[in-house]
Amino acid sequence: MPRRTRLESGLQNALSILADQFAFPTDRMRTMMAAFHEDMDRGLAGLPSSLRMLPTFADNPSGREKGDVLALDLGGSNVRLLLARLTGDGREPQVLSEKFKLEPEHVSTTGEALFGAIARFIKEFLAGRRLDGSYPLGFTFSFPLRQHSIRRGELILWTKGWTASGVEGRDVVSLLDRALEGQGVGGVRVVSLDNDTTGTQVARAYFDPACDTGCILGTGTNICYRERAARIQAPIAGYTREFMIVNMESGNFNRALPRNRYDARLDARSENPAGQWEEKMVSGKYLGELVRLAVADWTGRGLLFEGRLPGPLAGRDGLAGETISAIIADPSEDADGARAVLAGLGADGAGRDDAAAVRAIGRTVVLRAARIAAAALAAAVTKNDPGLQAAHTVAVDGSIFEKMPGFRESMRAAFGELFGARAERITLALTHDGSGLGAAIIAASTGAHSEAYYGEQ
Ligand code: GLC
Repeated sequence: MPRRTRLESGLQNALSILADQFAFPTDRMRTMMAAFHEDMDRGLAGLPSSLRMLPTFADNPSGREKGDVLALDLGGSNVRLLLARLTGDGREPQVLSEKFKLEPEHVSTTGEALFGAIARFIKEFLAGRRLDGSYPLGFTFSFPLRQHSIRRGELILWTKGWTASGVEGRDVVSLLDRALEGQGVGGVRVVSLDNDTTGTQVARAYFDPACDTGCILGTGTNICYRERAARIQAPIAGYTREFMIVNMESGNFNRALPRNRYDARLDARSENPAGQWEEKMVSGKYLGELVRLAVADWTGRGLLFEGRLPGPLAGRDGLAGETISAIIADPSEDADGARAVLAGLGADGAGRDDAAAVRAIGRTVVLRAARIAAAALAAAVTKNDPGLQAAHTVAVDGSIFEKMPGFRESMRAAFGELFGARAERITLALTHDGSGLGAAIIAASTGAHSEAYYGEQ
């Protein structure tokens, strides 16, 4: 056989092996859902479980929450600050918001540096708008939190590659309070703490009573849902409402997943080996790396790039989630668009076959991610409504859901396979930047808003 043809058939063969390695057929999705339900029950009962099932001390809002409230949204490379005016009468909240960029050293050195930077952003935000009154602040902290009340909670452990020291095991509200004091910011009182999933759910539920689930599909991934408080075994003394939102930390789910050797390799080299397995198969921080590991493997076997991995693809995280988005979005037959993206990265030696193969790998990895995400959400929604008798709105936010080509469509297709016509009962509602607004609504629901609001009228 001439070399070219041999290479082509080798590529075809490798692609079909890859499709098997990343396959997640419907019956395996159902098996995963059953395991997910078991872990939800175990977590709620306080038994060892990969789902942490963390009490949030918050429930869906009534829609009547009102006040001028600040919110701080922390969990990705940007910190978002908001001032929301909630009128409590069904009108859209007015929101002033600003993004501040965290430097890599803020998330990887010390908690002091991290919270110091955040307090400086808050100071700048207030000064820029001449806000010198006294404001309650809702704090969205998008990591696993062991909460003791609506305004106290310790970081259990970092996820998403964050490593700042001196934060794990500490109450993050105290850390923020101290940093605000250090910056001489006196008018801000942290009154509530929430996760980004919870904030997203609450922001949507402010208008939509059918919203009972929140989901993030971004840098990380996670799901929260509404549960009867009586079913939660963790200590929630003092909480009087019938329902509470539970933060599952579903990114840590680790059973019945379609794992393969690339997953194992990625996990072993991550900042948190053995943790967040589902997140490492689904979310934006990891999808590019999974693709890169497969590309590196194929290159090592002489199937791509004439056996030499281009420099920019050689190191960990050499392919970002956005790059995968751009590559798989290329509809052209000859993969010229994908080739241009690779050239833009500095991988200019990429031929058409190389680009087409990288695109095919990307599509395979992303399809599996969407199906895993769908199975996890399907499990969350059917936990207390197995026959899908009611309509459920899932408030979803995050770059993968919003921007990864084909992701939503693949999730919907998976729901169709699982539930047939009843899949229509699940609405996936993009709730863009909901976590900040949700934090403001939660803060207002604590009742701490009234002075600030009425004091200013
Ligand atoms: C990670 C965090 C979780 C958060 C999710 C999405 O999984 O542990 O708390 O909700 O990322 O940001």
